[in-house]
Amino acid sequence: MTRPTVLVYHADPKYAALVRAPRGRIVLRTAATPSEAEPLVAEADALYAWQFPRHLWAKAARLRWLQVMGAGVDWALVPELRPGVVVTRAPGVFGPWMAEYVVGWCAWVTQRMAAYLDAQRQRRWIDHVLPDRLGGKTLVIVGLGDIGRAIARAARALGMRVLGVSRTGRPVREARRVWRVGALRTALRQADFVVVLLPLTPETRGIIDAGALAAMKPTAWLLNVARGAVVDEPALLDALRGRRLGGAILDVFATEPLPPHHPFWALDNVVITPHISGPSTPEEIAPIFNDNLARWLAGRPLRHVVDRKAGY
Ligand code: GLV
Repeated sequence: MTRPTVLVYHADPKYAALVRAPRGRIVLRTAATPSEAEPLVAEADALYAWQFPRHLWAKAARLRWLQVMGAGVDWALVPELRPGVVVTRAPGVFGPWMAEYVVGWCAWVTQRMAAYLDAQRQRRWIDHVLPDRLGGKTLVIVGLGDIGRAIARAARALGMRVLGVSRTGRPVREARRVWRVGALRTALRQADFVVVLLPLTPETRGIIDAGALAAMKPTAWLLNVARGAVVDEPALLDALRGRRLGGAILDVFATEPLPPHHPFWALDNVVITPHISGPSTPEEIAPIFNDNLARWLAGRPLRHVVDRKAGY
């Protein structure tokens, strides 16, 4: 029996080190860079990867399965990836990270952390500045997959009122009310904080547009932890410059790294973080990959299969 070849593509060798398969059942290959992957991709039956170089998909003639090491699959769902390749995601691990990110940065706003640190640097006692409560504030979560629901639970634990928006509008236990994407603005009108979690698909590109931003209260904060292109960045820039929003916490951008000359850097009502809100770690992703690898070798159905037509 010929042994299938599994190609692990990542700069961190730990991903490959944590692959577990019965002895002799697979040929394991590793590549850390596009040029290392290039001569190996034609032999790969399975690929375990993050941000695999798009120009190499055409060479992946034997590929049957792609396990993605992160939450988003937009980089993989390109026409060059043959339709027969099964793509699987890694749900369940990013929710806890991103819940802490979202609640943490919401608290940064309400606890006025920037103001107190600023005053401290100037040795000023600013007891006229008071913090605000997260309790009672309304958080609108746009995108209610496993990450959105994990954020909802954390926010509710602090007494926030959680509303949701999703493609289906189906109610979930974690949100008081859920609207369909078509009623996005109705939900946004109520928000003190909006967190964007939608996958990037042709339907969601630019969905947080000028009209959506205008629906938000002028005191509300936008947190984007999804993909930069889900938000119309020029419209957001405009709203922030015109102080028609409280501010924005941005972890993702249409172009990453965010170029040094980008106007977002200079705004005092923006926080920029470098796409770190839901980090992938080899230890957390390995159990998902190894479970699917065992299934794949046994010819059983894989878990967490992406609906390539829906785009997530
Ligand atoms: C990171 O952005 C991911 O999709 O995991």
